[in-house]
Amino acid sequence: MTVASELNPTARFLMGPGPSDVHPRILKAMATPVIGHLDPQLIAVMDELKDMLQNLFRTKNELTLAVSGTGSAGMETCFVNLLEAGDEALVCVNGVFGNRMSDIVERCGAKLIRLEAPWGQPIDPTAVKQIIRKCNPKLLAIVHAETSTGVLQPLEEIGEIARDAGALFLVDAVTSLGGTDVRMDEWGIDAIYSGTQKCISGPPGLAPVSFSPRAMQAVEERKTKVRSWYLDMTMVRKYWQGAKRVYHHTAPISMLYSLYEALRMIFEEGLETRFKRHRRNHELLREGLEELGFEFMVARSYRLPMLNSVRIPEGMEDAPVRQRLLDEFNIEIGGGLGDFAGKVWRIGLMGCSCTVNHVNMLLAALRRIKGG
Ligand SMILES: Cc1ncc(COP(=O)(O)O)c(C=O)c1O
Repeated sequence: MTVASELNPTARFLMGPGPSDVHPRILKAMATPVIGHLDPQLIAVMDELKDMLQNLFRTKNELTLAVSGTGSAGMETCFVNLLEAGDEALVCVNGVFGNRMSDIVERCGAKLIRLEAPWGQPIDPTAVKQIIRKCNPKLLAIVHAETSTGVLQPLEEIGEIARDAGALFLVDAVTSLGGTDVRMDEWGIDAIYSGTQKCISGPPGLAPVSFSPRAMQAVEERKTKVRSWYLDMTMVRKYWQGAKRVYHHTAPISMLYSLYEALRMIFEEGLETRFKRHRRNHELLREGLEELGFEFMVARSYRLPMLNSVRIPEGMEDAPVRQRLLDEFNIEIGGGLGDFAGKVWRIGLMGCSCTVNHVNMLLAALRRIKGG
């Protein structure tokens, strides 16, 4: 057998829906020595991680940790722990990730109730109020930043509606966390998950999650075991909490280092400064794209700064232009998904990929391509 050649991928400017650019400091952290998963030095790193994640989610929840796996593992963790067969779950759907939540609810054997809104529009709290009167859901689930459409969903009012109806409030913060404000405790969120490869700007592979005491009570009151062994929070938490840690599965040590460094960088910059940077560069991109004839898919008041969803203009072809961006300029942007496939481009400005230089580079490349 011939030995495969050495890895040598071309560095890209990652301006799609994720992953985003990973800072050399984070890559360097991943190259530090791997130690044992119960080594006191690693436990100290995990305690710091927990602390930084609590600050990022703006929560005091004791059960705040990083699940081994990507954002979808975080999604599955929330649902499999909170739902038992026969429970009702109300899922708001206005894009790909509401659909993925629905799929997981059904796999849990729970009864799925879907509240849909057209792609590119937010979920209307009045519609939530109306539907929740007609059912008795154990939880209400919603996506904060719908990466497939570019909608930023206001959460506070819907959280209140869930609480008044006695339902747990479950939020997907995969694309929002680290790029815009997420206030878990203030907004009454009971379970939340995210991913490392978007605005946290680390490599994909971990899913920060947090469960409120109310959510953990629901987990503890289950009549049946959590259906996933790997994601069972009643077991995983014994590895992340308490004076004596209990082995559950071997932690992805180097990934934990990467998240540690990424979070350190976030708090060095400061949350407010970071959120402002995302808004400012979004405005810069918007001006440039509009000059080039692009139209945004989402109304201004619900637009995500970190994921810009724009209609592909006449005269530009979807796949060939994206291929030229990659081949000639080393820039990756995202195509449309589902209802938006072939019609829309998704331009990410997330974490380390959210700089004035990234914006100017992409605009210059698009101008060159448009000019022929
Ligand atoms: C809003 C949202 N939820 C969930 C996911 C799933 O995350 P992952 O692809 O890391 O499993 C994504 C990924 O793009 C996302 O954008």
